[in-house]
Amino acid sequence: MAKQRILSGVQPTGNLHLGNYLGAIQNWVEIQQDYDSFFCVVDLHAITVPHDPKVLANNTKAIAALYLACGIDLTHSTIFVQSHVKAHSELAWLLNCVTPLNWLERMIQFKEKAQKQGENVSVGLLDYPVLMAADILLYDADKVPVGEDQKQHLELTRDIVIRINDKFGTKKNPVLKMPDPLIRTTGARVMSLTDGTKKMSKSDPSELSRINLLDPPDVLTKKIKKCKTDPERGLEFDNPNRPECNNLLGLYALLSGKPKETVAVECADMGWGQFKPLLTETVIAALEPIQTKYHDIMANPDYLDQVLREGREKADTVANATLKQVKDALGFLPSL
Ligand code: TYM
Repeated sequence: MAKQRILSGVQPTGNLHLGNYLGAIQNWVEIQQDYDSFFCVVDLHAITVPHDPKVLANNTKAIAALYLACGIDLTHSTIFVQSHVKAHSELAWLLNCVTPLNWLERMIQFKEKAQKQGENVSVGLLDYPVLMAADILLYDADKVPVGEDQKQHLELTRDIVIRINDKFGTKKNPVLKMPDPLIRTTGARVMSLTDGTKKMSKSDPSELSRINLLDPPDVLTKKIKKCKTDPERGLEFDNPNRPECNNLLGLYALLSGKPKETVAVECADMGWGQFKPLLTETVIAALEPIQTKYHDIMANPDYLDQVLREGREKADTVANATLKQVKDALGFLPSL
């Protein structure tokens, strides 16, 4: 039986942080061999907020290199750049024309990001979830492994599928495949180091709020030393009055590979003075092999170019077939 397919992506807006890693990429690495796996660097999404053209290309390469450094394996997976596969923009346009405006206006991420930008909100930012739907639907993805914050975008994608299939398909011959979100039970929501009630995010103005995968040991040490804690003694999971405690213990469990129950017992009587150095050591040890591999890959640009070229070819073939199917269903004159 053919393997089911997964597709996911990360925006090349700066560095990857532990939220991206634990919420998404680590999960991709664990499940990739069970699926026909496609991972893209979503550079078209990265320009929905003001961006610097001088760094976009390098950031795109860096994210692709980080996919490999984190353990994405090309025998199971295809890595490509979204803007290299023209079908993404074209399908987004077709989906735009069947997506009601008010579905987009109620997206939480749009509202949050739009609030930060005031007058400068682009049409692209509003349309971000439709482009994301195009990414997913072009590959007939069965599952989409993402962090918790992407749940609403996945629901929108599913609503678009229902609409297109109702209008242009039949029960026997649907135009698009219905994808399911794949959200982990742990790590799906990594919180900020400076406020345990806010998610760790690339757009937080404070660098101290996040741990980046490429932070060197001295920076990691400083960030963990300065991270927010509380005055209580003894550490515990799931106390709603201690969000920072829950988050930091969760990071320790995920990065050390120890089960939550083991960590709960190990840290029950610890104070922050004992726990912080332990967490620091664990984070440094977990990131060190990723950083070494990343620097090796970046030192060999021909290899990365080759990976992205082959990825583009594979992605193009799958995406163009779906695009044709949608255009046929919508009644376009086939290209002559
Ligand atoms: P991006 O780059 O904002 O996030 C990439 C992935 O990281 C997850 N994530 C988190 N997980 C746990 N805790 C956090 N604090 C945290 N912050 C981010 C996100 O859920 C995501 O899985 N819209 C997507 C990019 C995208 C995409 C797609 C994903 C574009 N097209 C198609 C899947 C399929 C995004 O949030 O990127």
